[in-house]
Amino acid sequence: MEQRISNLREEINASLAQAETLIALDEVRVKTLGKSGSVTGLMKELGSLPVEEKKQMGQLLNVFKNEIAALIEEKKSFLEEKELNERLQSEKVDVTLPVRPEVSMGRIHPVSQVMEEMLSIFAQMGFDLAEGPDIEDDFHNFEALNIPPSHPARQMQATFFMQNTTDKVLRTQTSGVQIRTMEGKKPPIKIVAPGRTYRRDYDMTHTPMFHQIEGLVIDKKTNLAHLKTTLVEFMKLFFETDDVALRFRPSYFPFTEPSYEADVGCSRENGEFKIKSGAGWCELLGCGMVHPNVLKNCGLDPDEYQGYAFGCGIDRFAMLKYGIPDLRSFFDADMRWIKHYGFLPLDIPTNTSGLSLNGGSKR
Ligand code: DAH
Repeated sequence: MEQRISNLREEINASLAQAETLIALDEVRVKTLGKSGSVTGLMKELGSLPVEEKKQMGQLLNVFKNEIAALIEEKKSFLEEKELNERLQSEKVDVTLPVRPEVSMGRIHPVSQVMEEMLSIFAQMGFDLAEGPDIEDDFHNFEALNIPPSHPARQMQATFFMQNTTDKVLRTQTSGVQIRTMEGKKPPIKIVAPGRTYRRDYDMTHTPMFHQIEGLVIDKKTNLAHLKTTLVEFMKLFFETDDVALRFRPSYFPFTEPSYEADVGCSRENGEFKIKSGAGWCELLGCGMVHPNVLKNCGLDPDEYQGYAFGCGIDRFAMLKYGIPDLRSFFDADMRWIKHYGFLPLDIPTNTSGLSLNGGSKR
């Protein structure tokens, strides 16, 4: 038996020396220590030996078995390290290499960028974020906003209706979120609601899908001066200049009384807009004091509460701030356009308040 152990040891040592991979090593393990392996085979033979010899050989075989197991373990660690080193060598990334030209980097769309910028400023001014559904019902999109079925304002907003229904529409304005907010919460309310809006329109300044931000502030003493100050302060932060002139023109919206359209002072040079006072005016947004009927429709007493609202096109703000001439190009999915007007995610600028915004500034 001792002789056989010694022969087997040599044999196993030779196979271990030849095992160059973890797979080959495992084969050696199975052939020796496995169920029908050579070492296990010797152990099985112990049963047929006389008691004294069995004891003696048993000890010997145990030592031998442990010796082989240890050798296999040792070789395994060696091979594992070797394979890891080989992988590290072959998979090495050279971080100094220039970016391959065919790898094109994604850009943040100006609409997402500007939406982030606008929300971040409104957040600094204490507004909460509110949201509503793109598929809206007649009540929230029109009726509760003081636009009954026969109202001419319905024609002004060429509406997409969902198939086989007159009650569900693709929302024509984010103003419906005002209603949803007032239904769900008692004043004080101070929210902005960004989102997509839809109308059957298509030309240089209109696309069937566009983006708006709605603002609503309701409290007991909120007045027109608050609306004007809020908008002026917002414009200064957004356009990153103190040279902001706002002009309020009387206008009409069914859900505000009085209603205004606000224009911002700007010049237009070579097709590009530039914000500054004293040059010309550019139409910017609609606003006003919330109509008592709207408050009533949401279960609020107009003798107790009052407030202001405003609604602006995000796309328009993007065009003005970043000098983008044609609205339609926003939604053409043209890579050359997005490369030119898009933003890199890691550009982190600061606005005039010194607070860093989540997005980036122009390129
Ligand atoms: N919803 C209006 C539109 O889409 C914009 C608007 C005007 C919103 C006046 C308002 C507002 O909240 O007070 O044209």
